[in-house]
Amino acid sequence: MDVDVFVTQPIPQPGLDLLARAHPGFRINTEERVLEHSELLERVRGAAGILALLTDRVDAEVLDAAGPQLRIVANMAAGFDNIDLREASARGVMVTNTPGVLTDATADLAWALLFAVARRVPEAERFLRAGRFRCWGPLLFLGADVTGRTLGVVGAGRIGSAVARRARGFDMKVLYCNRSPRPGLETGLGVRKVPLEELLGEADFVSLHLPLTPETRHLIDARALALMKPTAFLVNTGRGPLVDEAALVEALAAGRLAGAALDVFEREPEVHPGLLARDDVVLTPHIGSATTSARARMAVMAAGNLVAGLRGERPPNLLGGETWEKKRPRE
Ligand code: GLV
Repeated sequence: MDVDVFVTQPIPQPGLDLLARAHPGFRINTEERVLEHSELLERVRGAAGILALLTDRVDAEVLDAAGPQLRIVANMAAGFDNIDLREASARGVMVTNTPGVLTDATADLAWALLFAVARRVPEAERFLRAGRFRCWGPLLFLGADVTGRTLGVVGAGRIGSAVARRARGFDMKVLYCNRSPRPGLETGLGVRKVPLEELLGEADFVSLHLPLTPETRHLIDARALALMKPTAFLVNTGRGPLVDEAALVEALAAGRLAGAALDVFEREPEVHPGLLARDDVVLTPHIGSATTSARARMAVMAAGNLVAGLRGERPPNLLGGETWEKKRPRE
């Protein structure tokens, strides 16, 4: 009999097609909404494989609710802070993610946000749509230069590095901080690894590309914001809790920062009312990887990981390989 597979929400068709070929009887929540935690506990019961999204909190309770036959949780996201990896590993459950396929899409969005906030694009558009554009004005919507300025990339993994590489096209100086040096990035002139404090003090644009961990939560707090130039902008396409939103609102209100562009939030889908109220803040609903092709590739990758794991193979994007070694089927 086919093993039970549960998909927590509709995902792009190529991923579903792949799943259907291997597990034609897979179950899916067909509603386009995040299941309540209690519903998730109910729906995962009996599953050997769960295809989860970053909005699903897969904790010890969910792992236990699924039952001891659970072998793999395939997350359709690069980030996996929604999954308790330690609890999964303790139960011999494999966890996978979808790195690489959303790098360009997310780096592109970081740049879109950077430009949007620097040149006040959403604010200017709101003005026009409100019928307030009477004529060209020498003082109308003056923004900040991007070309030739300094970009600070915090976290130079795949996405951070892709963001940094794009800065070449705008003749920018690039500072980055990362645990380990990225020699590949430093081939261009003006790309330098610096401590976070130095980056914050020098950059005109600070873009965040770190995973969310207990160490990176609120990395950008009141103290970090105070180090930034009052003319600088903060861009976040990583994870919301990297930034202390209350401290950000305070810094903006006090004129200690020029603006912020955020795709991710501390308590999604809630957005701090202090951010919603400000024109110097650009807000998008966590769409970093939202291109048709990136999402299709994420779906295929997540489904491929799940199918491989259930077949007893090592999934290509396995996190923390020790679990697999432990559960590896005997030859
Ligand atoms: C999106 O936020 C992802 O982690 O894939």
